[in-house]
Amino acid sequence: MNRRRKVYEGKAKILYEGPEPGTLVQHFKDDATAFNNKKHDRVEGKGVLNNRISEYLFNKLGDVGVPTHFIKRLNMREQLIREVEIIPIEVVIRNVAAGSLSTRLGLDEGTTLPRSIVEFYYKSDELDDPMVTEEHITAFGWATPQELDDIMSLALRINDFLSGLFLGVGIRLVDFKVEFGRLWEGEQMRVVLADEISPDCCRLWDIETHDKLDKDRFRRDMGGLVEAYQEVARRLGLHVGNPGQAQSGPVLVQSK
Ligand code: TMP
Repeated sequence: MNRRRKVYEGKAKILYEGPEPGTLVQHFKDDATAFNNKKHDRVEGKGVLNNRISEYLFNKLGDVGVPTHFIKRLNMREQLIREVEIIPIEVVIRNVAAGSLSTRLGLDEGTTLPRSIVEFYYKSDELDDPMVTEEHITAFGWATPQELDDIMSLALRINDFLSGLFLGVGIRLVDFKVEFGRLWEGEQMRVVLADEISPDCCRLWDIETHDKLDKDRFRRDMGGLVEAYQEVARRLGLHVGNPGQAQSGPVLVQSK
């Protein structure tokens, strides 16, 4: 029996009311989608792996001083987070040409970029998340110039840190997407890292073989998605057990 109130359901996650005011429970589903839900499947065990990998990366980022919404992992599929007001911008950081950048600019996938490039997309399913510039973001009031400054510097710090972390386990961080939120502490507001960082929203290539260890395996019908995510978890030193066996229904949260 689930008595929790659902606050929001997205394509890969559900948010429930948390045990205390100002907290939420973030539940990772097994659903895999691509191209704004045009391609949709269930991949058993994906939610469990993303929960663990995202927990690990948010904790590591927190350790080096990146503010995040993460509080703690609750169980195989859920984590306790601070409630934030999501800034409606997807921030993509790229180190190597791939995906839509390669298509848009005719760059061979795998070309190292002259420097890391940050792009912004407006979060809107109806509009298919169009790419926007800082001008659009500030003119339409999606974020203030100060918030955008914070977002830019956090995004680059996250990229530097994660690039090194993945390099240490033989993985190239090609590109990734992050989201930020406003966290209110009394009268004070801080921009913090929110959502998740998992192979669903990163491109991760094996340094030697260039094998794809990310959601492109699903987008491009390559198969082996869970095995690839498991390999990422294994290299990060995470013991996930059998992710396919974790129950997929909501689990009652114990507040303590
Ligand atoms: P792209 O090359 O398709 O623009 O994707 C860039 C990165 O952003 C890639 O690591 C996948 C991630 N991404 C998401 O997490 N969600 C999205 O909706 C899109 C389009 C990309």
